[in-house]
Amino acid sequence: MKLFVVKDNQEGAELGYNIIREELENGRLNVFGLATGSTPISLYDRITASDLDFTNVVSINLDEYIGIGADHDQSYHYFMNEHFFSKKPFKANYLPNGLETDAAKECARYNAIIAENPIDVQILGIGENGHIGFNEPGASFDSLTEKVSLTESTIEANARNFASIDDVPRYAYSMGIKSIMSAKKIILFAYGEKKADAIHAMLEVAPSTDCPASALQNHADVIVIADEKAAAKLTNK
Ligand code: GLP
Repeated sequence: MKLFVVKDNQEGAELGYNIIREELENGRLNVFGLATGSTPISLYDRITASDLDFTNVVSINLDEYIGIGADHDQSYHYFMNEHFFSKKPFKANYLPNGLETDAAKECARYNAIIAENPIDVQILGIGENGHIGFNEPGASFDSLTEKVSLTESTIEANARNFASIDDVPRYAYSMGIKSIMSAKKIILFAYGEKKADAIHAMLEVAPSTDCPASALQNHADVIVIADEKAAAKLTNK
Protein backbone atom coordinates (compact mmCIF):
# COMPACT_ATOMS: atom_id res chain seq x y z
CA MET A 1 0.00 0.00 0.00
CA LYS A 2 1.23 3.48 -0.81
CA LEU A 3 0.66 6.03 1.97
CA PHE A 4 0.37 9.79 1.54
CA VAL A 5 0.08 11.87 4.70
CA VAL A 6 -1.62 15.18 3.98
CA LYS A 7 -2.28 18.33 5.99
CA ASP A 8 -6.06 18.21 5.76
CA ASN A 9 -9.01 16.97 3.71
CA GLN A 10 -8.52 19.73 1.11
CA GLU A 11 -5.02 18.54 0.37
CA GLY A 12 -6.32 14.95 0.40
CA ALA A 13 -9.08 15.86 -2.04
CA GLU A 14 -6.61 17.56 -4.39
CA LEU A 15 -4.35 14.53 -4.40
CA GLY A 16 -7.27 12.15 -4.97
CA TYR A 17 -8.68 14.38 -7.69
CA ASN A 18 -5.36 14.38 -9.58
CA ILE A 19 -5.17 10.58 -9.50
CA ILE A 20 -8.75 10.26 -10.74
CA ARG A 21 -8.25 12.85 -13.47
CA GLU A 22 -5.21 10.98 -14.74
CA GLU A 23 -7.07 7.64 -14.78
CA LEU A 24 -10.03 9.22 -16.57
CA GLU A 25 -7.94 11.07 -19.14
CA ASN A 26 -6.00 7.91 -19.92
CA GLY A 27 -9.13 5.84 -20.51
CA ARG A 28 -8.56 3.73 -17.39
CA LEU A 29 -11.68 4.84 -15.53
CA ASN A 30 -14.79 3.30 -17.04
CA VAL A 31 -16.30 1.97 -13.84
CA PHE A 32 -16.00 4.13 -10.73
CA GLY A 33 -16.60 2.54 -7.32
CA LEU A 34 -17.97 5.13 -4.91
CA ALA A 35 -18.32 5.45 -1.15
CA THR A 36 -20.39 7.58 1.20
CA GLY A 37 -19.75 9.05 4.65
CA SER A 38 -18.34 12.45 5.52
CA THR A 39 -14.81 11.54 4.36
CA PRO A 40 -15.24 11.59 0.55
CA ILE A 41 -17.27 14.83 0.50
CA SER A 42 -14.21 17.07 -0.06
CA LEU A 43 -13.15 14.82 -2.95
CA TYR A 44 -16.62 14.91 -4.51
CA ASP A 45 -16.73 18.69 -4.10
CA ARG A 46 -13.38 18.96 -5.87
CA ILE A 47 -14.49 16.66 -8.69
CA THR A 48 -17.87 18.29 -9.21
CA ALA A 49 -16.25 21.75 -9.34
CA SER A 50 -13.99 20.55 -12.16
CA ASP A 51 -14.59 19.95 -15.85
CA LEU A 52 -14.18 16.17 -15.59
CA ASP A 53 -16.73 14.33 -17.71
CA PHE A 54 -18.32 11.12 -16.41
CA THR A 55 -20.95 10.67 -19.11
CA ASN A 56 -19.16 7.56 -20.39
CA VAL A 57 -18.53 6.19 -16.90
CA VAL A 58 -20.64 3.81 -14.82
CA SER A 59 -20.69 4.23 -11.02
CA ILE A 60 -21.18 1.46 -8.48
CA ASN A 61 -21.66 2.29 -4.82
CA LEU A 62 -20.39 0.19 -1.96
CA ASP A 63 -23.43 -0.06 0.23
CA GLU A 64 -26.89 1.11 1.28
CA TYR A 65 -28.97 0.97 4.44
CA ILE A 66 -31.84 -1.50 4.37
CA GLY A 67 -35.30 -0.07 4.98
CA ILE A 68 -34.84 3.43 3.58
CA GLY A 69 -35.16 4.56 -0.02
CA ALA A 70 -33.58 7.15 -2.30
CA ASP A 71 -35.96 9.87 -1.06
CA HIS A 72 -34.88 9.43 2.60
CA ASP A 73 -32.29 12.10 3.37
CA GLN A 74 -30.02 9.62 5.20
CA SER A 75 -30.00 7.00 2.46
CA TYR A 76 -26.76 6.63 0.57
CA HIS A 77 -28.67 7.06 -2.66
CA TYR A 78 -29.85 10.49 -1.50
CA PHE A 79 -26.28 11.35 -0.40
CA MET A 80 -24.86 10.43 -3.80
CA ASN A 81 -27.51 12.45 -5.66
CA GLU A 82 -26.81 15.42 -3.43
CA HIS A 83 -23.00 15.37 -3.52
CA PHE A 84 -22.21 13.95 -6.94
CA PHE A 85 -24.85 12.70 -9.39
CA SER A 86 -26.97 15.87 -9.51
CA LYS A 87 -23.82 17.76 -10.50
CA LYS A 88 -22.08 15.22 -12.74
CA PRO A 89 -24.15 12.94 -14.96
CA PHE A 90 -22.92 9.36 -15.48
CA LYS A 91 -23.79 6.71 -18.07
CA ALA A 92 -25.43 4.76 -15.24
CA ASN A 93 -25.43 4.87 -11.44
CA TYR A 94 -25.80 1.64 -9.49
CA LEU A 95 -26.53 1.35 -5.77
CA PRO A 96 -28.04 -1.45 -3.73
CA ASN A 97 -31.82 -1.01 -3.38
CA GLY A 98 -32.45 -0.49 0.34
CA LEU A 99 -36.17 -1.07 -0.17
CA GLU A 100 -35.76 -4.58 -1.60
CA THR A 101 -36.84 -6.99 1.13
CA ASP A 102 -35.68 -10.12 -0.70
CA ALA A 103 -32.01 -10.05 0.32
CA ALA A 104 -30.94 -13.04 -1.79
CA LYS A 105 -32.48 -11.47 -4.89
CA GLU A 106 -30.93 -8.06 -4.25
CA CYS A 107 -27.45 -9.45 -3.51
CA ALA A 108 -27.56 -11.58 -6.68
CA ARG A 109 -28.65 -8.55 -8.73
CA TYR A 110 -25.82 -6.45 -7.33
CA ASN A 111 -23.17 -9.14 -7.74
CA ALA A 112 -24.20 -9.50 -11.39
CA ILE A 113 -23.82 -5.74 -11.90
CA ILE A 114 -20.29 -5.83 -10.44
CA ALA A 115 -19.37 -8.89 -12.53
CA GLU A 116 -20.54 -7.14 -15.71
CA ASN A 117 -18.83 -3.87 -14.78
CA PRO A 118 -15.43 -4.63 -13.25
CA ILE A 119 -14.48 -1.69 -11.03
CA ASP A 120 -11.47 0.32 -12.22
CA VAL A 121 -11.06 2.69 -9.29
CA GLN A 122 -12.73 2.20 -5.91
CA ILE A 123 -13.00 5.05 -3.41
CA LEU A 124 -13.08 4.00 0.24
CA GLY A 125 -13.46 5.59 3.63
CA ILE A 126 -12.87 3.57 6.79
CA GLY A 127 -14.92 3.04 9.93
CA GLU A 128 -13.48 3.68 13.37
CA ASN A 129 -13.43 -0.11 13.88
CA GLY A 130 -11.69 -0.71 10.55
CA HIS A 131 -14.81 -1.47 8.51
CA ILE A 132 -14.87 -0.84 4.77
CA GLY A 133 -18.23 -0.51 3.08
CA PHE A 134 -20.29 -2.11 5.83
CA ASN A 135 -17.96 -5.08 6.26
CA GLU A 136 -17.69 -5.09 10.02
CA PRO A 137 -14.95 -6.84 12.07
CA GLY A 138 -15.31 -10.59 11.64
CA ALA A 139 -16.56 -10.33 8.03
CA SER A 140 -15.05 -12.95 5.74
CA PHE A 141 -12.42 -11.79 3.26
CA ASP A 142 -14.22 -14.03 0.71
CA SER A 143 -17.58 -12.27 0.80
CA LEU A 144 -19.43 -10.75 -2.13
CA THR A 145 -22.49 -8.48 -1.68
CA GLU A 146 -24.41 -9.49 1.42
CA LYS A 147 -27.08 -8.34 3.82
CA VAL A 148 -25.09 -7.36 6.92
CA SER A 149 -25.88 -6.36 10.52
CA LEU A 150 -24.30 -3.13 11.69
CA THR A 151 -22.31 -3.25 14.94
CA GLU A 152 -23.36 -1.11 17.89
CA SER A 153 -20.25 1.07 17.44
CA THR A 154 -21.13 1.77 13.80
CA ILE A 155 -24.76 2.50 14.72
CA GLU A 156 -23.51 4.93 17.38
CA ALA A 157 -21.00 6.55 14.99
CA ASN A 158 -23.65 7.00 12.29
CA ALA A 159 -26.37 8.18 14.70
CA ARG A 160 -25.05 11.74 14.43
CA ASN A 161 -26.75 11.92 11.02
CA PHE A 162 -30.17 10.71 12.18
CA ALA A 163 -32.79 12.36 14.42
CA SER A 164 -32.19 9.67 17.07
CA ILE A 165 -30.14 6.49 17.42
CA ASP A 166 -33.37 4.46 17.14
CA ASP A 167 -33.78 5.74 13.59
CA VAL A 168 -30.45 4.29 12.41
CA PRO A 169 -31.11 1.18 10.28
CA ARG A 170 -29.71 -2.03 11.80
CA TYR A 171 -29.00 -3.72 8.47
CA ALA A 172 -27.42 -2.82 5.17
CA TYR A 173 -26.54 -4.31 1.82
CA SER A 174 -22.80 -4.09 1.32
CA MET A 175 -20.34 -5.11 -1.32
CA GLY A 176 -18.14 -7.77 0.29
CA ILE A 177 -14.41 -7.61 0.86
CA LYS A 178 -13.84 -9.89 -2.14
CA SER A 179 -15.89 -7.49 -4.34
CA ILE A 180 -13.84 -4.53 -3.08
CA MET A 181 -10.57 -6.42 -3.64
CA SER A 182 -11.57 -7.07 -7.26
CA ALA A 183 -11.22 -3.33 -8.04
CA LYS A 184 -8.09 -2.63 -10.09
CA LYS A 185 -7.10 0.41 -8.05
CA ILE A 186 -8.29 1.47 -4.59
CA ILE A 187 -7.96 4.90 -2.99
CA LEU A 188 -8.77 4.99 0.72
CA PHE A 189 -9.18 8.30 2.55
CA ALA A 190 -9.03 8.80 6.32
CA TYR A 191 -9.23 12.03 8.28
CA GLY A 192 -9.20 12.75 11.99
CA GLU A 193 -7.92 11.14 15.18
CA LYS A 194 -10.92 8.80 15.46
CA LYS A 195 -9.48 6.86 12.52
CA ALA A 196 -5.93 6.52 13.92
CA ASP A 197 -6.39 3.04 15.45
CA ALA A 198 -8.05 1.72 12.29
CA ILE A 199 -5.30 3.13 10.07
CA HIS A 200 -2.63 1.57 12.28
CA ALA A 201 -4.36 -1.84 12.22
CA MET A 202 -4.93 -1.61 8.46
CA LEU A 203 -1.30 -0.84 7.60
CA GLU A 204 0.88 -2.20 10.37
CA VAL A 205 -0.82 -5.28 11.83
CA ALA A 206 -0.94 -8.62 9.97
CA PRO A 207 -4.17 -9.00 7.92
CA SER A 208 -6.98 -10.31 10.08
CA THR A 209 -10.77 -10.20 9.99
CA ASP A 210 -10.50 -8.18 13.23
CA CYS A 211 -9.73 -5.23 10.94
CA PRO A 212 -11.60 -5.65 7.63
CA ALA A 213 -9.48 -2.95 5.96
CA SER A 214 -6.31 -4.97 6.62
CA ALA A 215 -7.38 -7.23 3.72
CA LEU A 216 -6.14 -4.39 1.49
CA GLN A 217 -2.55 -5.34 2.36
CA ASN A 218 -3.04 -8.19 -0.14
CA HIS A 219 -4.08 -5.86 -2.99
CA ALA A 220 -1.47 -4.76 -5.55
CA ASP A 221 -2.61 -1.15 -6.02
CA VAL A 222 -3.91 0.66 -2.93
CA ILE A 223 -3.29 4.33 -2.23
CA VAL A 224 -4.01 5.54 1.31
CA ILE A 225 -4.50 9.27 1.79
CA ALA A 226 -4.59 10.15 5.48
CA ASP A 227 -4.26 13.38 7.37
CA GLU A 228 -1.72 13.75 10.18
CA LYS A 229 -4.29 12.91 12.87
CA ALA A 230 -5.41 9.70 11.18
CA ALA A 231 -1.76 8.74 10.60
CA ALA A 232 -0.71 9.61 14.17
CA LYS A 233 -0.40 6.00 15.40
CA LEU A 234 1.72 4.76 12.49
CA THR A 235 5.30 3.79 13.19
CA ASN A 236 6.37 4.07 9.53
CA LYS A 237 5.20 7.24 7.82
C1 GLP B 1 -20.12 4.27 7.01
C2 GLP B 1 -19.94 3.77 5.58
C3 GLP B 1 -18.49 3.61 5.18
C4 GLP B 1 -17.71 4.82 5.63
C5 GLP B 1 -17.74 4.93 7.12
C6 GLP B 1 -16.98 6.13 7.68
O1 GLP B 1 -20.40 3.31 7.96
N1 GLP B 1 -20.64 2.55 5.32
O2 GLP B 1 -18.41 3.41 3.78
O3 GLP B 1 -16.37 4.71 5.19
O4 GLP B 1 -19.09 5.06 7.55
O5 GLP B 1 -17.75 7.29 7.62
P1 GLP B 1 -17.16 8.74 7.78
O6 GLP B 1 -16.43 9.01 6.52
O7 GLP B 1 -18.36 9.63 7.94
O8 GLP B 1 -16.28 8.73 8.96
